[in-house]
Amino acid sequence: MLGLKLPTDPRWVNIVEKNIEEILTDHAYCEQKAASTAISLIVSFPEYTELVQEMVALVKEEISHFKMVHDKIIERGWTMGRDRKDEYVLQIVKFFPKGGSRTMQLVHRLLYAALIEARSCERFRLLSEELEDKTLAEFYRNLMVSEANHYTMFLGFARQYGERKEVDAKWDELLAFEAEVMKNLGTSETIHG
Ligand SMILES: [Fe+2]
Ligand SMILES: [Fe+2]
Repeated sequence: MLGLKLPTDPRWVNIVEKNIEEILTDHAYCEQKAASTAISLIVSFPEYTELVQEMVALVKEEISHFKMVHDKIIERGWTMGRDRKDEYVLQIVKFFPKGGSRTMQLVHRLLYAALIEARSCERFRLLSEELEDKTLAEFYRNLMVSEANHYTMFLGFARQYGERKEVDAKWDELLAFEAEVMKNLGTSETIHG
């Protein structure tokens, strides 16, 4: 349903389980970056009224996710650490060439956002199924549902604002590229690592 071409090896969860502090820290930043992305889309594409309205709602939702994760960090007696580099996102966003029409740039950013939501959703699903800590597993199950909705929304906007056939072709190419990137990941205790 998410279109991803390479599923994560479930052994990734074993790595994560050994370092919950690390995954929560990285996850907190993912939520914060999701909120920042929504704000950035509002600033860059203010004339897309429907998008702006949805992005306002998304900022609120993602920052509430951030707080939920931050609360988990506090509950466990930890203090949030510094931001980690997200190698996955850094590699993914190199796929589409820079430039092009305004619409094309918007479509590319929407497709990146859809992809990052899809992969996050897949990782959350694994955590929800495999984590031994059942409270944390339930926490990830709820977040998985939210991120699946975001994936659908971003892909829907890309298809709405771009030319449908072209967007679908680009999406397919991006998914294939992502599968290549993922071959070298799944080995660290970060949401996309
Ligand atoms: Fe989120
Ligand atoms: Fe999201």
